[in-house]
Amino acid sequence: MLRLKQLTSGYGSVPVVRDLSLDIKAREITVILGRNGVGKTTLMKTIIGVLPTMQGSITFKNTDVTKWSASRRARFGMGYVPQGRGIFPRLTVEENLLMGEFINIDSGGERLYDKVYSIFPRLDERRRQKGGTLSGGEQQMLAIGRALVGNPNLLILDEPSEGVQPSIVQDMVPILKGLMEELGLTILVVEQNLDFAMSLADRCYVMDRGTIVAELDKSEMTDSERVRRYLAI
Ligand SMILES: Nc1ncnc2c1ncn2[C@@H]1O[C@H](COP(=O)(O)OP(=O)(O)OP(=O)(O)O)[C@@H](O)[C@H]1O
Ligand SMILES: [Mg+2]
Repeated sequence: MLRLKQLTSGYGSVPVVRDLSLDIKAREITVILGRNGVGKTTLMKTIIGVLPTMQGSITFKNTDVTKWSASRRARFGMGYVPQGRGIFPRLTVEENLLMGEFINIDSGGERLYDKVYSIFPRLDERRRQKGGTLSGGEQQMLAIGRALVGNPNLLILDEPSEGVQPSIVQDMVPILKGLMEELGLTILVVEQNLDFAMSLADRCYVMDRGTIVAELDKSEMTDSERVRRYLAI
């Protein structure tokens, strides 16, 4: 679904992501674990095209998108839920979702509002409430919903557990797994929350200093001591 080949990117001439190669398989949830500042957000922004690629390539749905603009990549099926969620606080839930639909105009997708409201009944109940007055967990649902109405094939989430109550974080696991199954989505998540990552991932990688340093197999993923050691590199 998504292939990153020797990807290097950063700010100005300073690389943050370095020589990173990774294959994201379709209809799986891939989690990249990494501590603060290792370049997770920089990587996500490079994938969606907000940051240019300095070296290497990005192939999405068998198409080289390395030089494509962010909006073209979005229309081609990349959905993004930014770190901190980035919802519009003064717009209502409904209006926030509408913003997400704009990118869908060219892709001819159906209106996915009803789907979003059925997945997230809490948003349904709050259609006219201002985004800024929602709880952290509700804002996260809204940010996911906004990406979904763009009708993506690949949903990319940057630290979705951040600033969300622990009980709601665990609720997100079946929701994301359900989205993958029901909508046939491929999901890529970067996270620091180990337990959340472990319960979510079909495949899990560790990122450090701008590159992938380990892949954790299923047995390692349940061995949280081992994972903690990886993260303490
Ligand atoms: N706009 C920017 N200009 C220059 N340097 C930046 C910019 N944004 C991030 N950086 C630097 O790039 C490095 C990686 O930052 P990034 O935000 O990708 O890390 P992260 O893994 O997402 O961290 P966190 O877990 O805290 O979100 C850091 O050293 C950071 O200071
Ligand atoms: Mg980040």
